Amino acid sequence: MYSQKVMEHFQNPQNMGEIENADGVGEVGNPQCGDMMRITIKVDGDKITDVKWKTLGCGAAIATSSVMTGLAMGKTLDEAMALSRDSIADALDGLPAAKMHCSNLATDGLRAAIEDYMKKHPEAKIRGRDG
Ligand code: FES
Repeated sequence: MYSQKVMEHFQNPQNMGEIENADGVGEVGNPQCGDMMRITIKVDGDKITDVKWKTLGCGAAIATSSVMTGLAMGKTLDEAMALSRDSIADALDGLPAAKMHCSNLATDGLRAAIEDYMKKHPEAKIRGRDG
């Protein structure tokens, strides 16, 4: 049911935890399954230099959060905003259809953290969402 990559990230999740004095914090939840996620980011200039996550979620939420951090790290805020649930699923060699919403949680959490950063730094500009 799950790809090898999902299992790898589930068993050995990357960048789990919380950044102290984060530049942006995003908290999101899925009302259907009740799972929650907290994403913290560090930003330098217009680049994301660190991303960490904590989740009260399922195995797919863990794997998607883990792979999301690898995709977001080093990206500009624009590029990170454009990460979609499909980018996450592709990086995991696919997710079962019933689990696609779990990758939404990872991208929504990341976007919420970027939006939090933007609120605190109105001088920073992003082009907006396209994914
Ligand atoms: Fe809800 Fe996976 S079942 S995040």
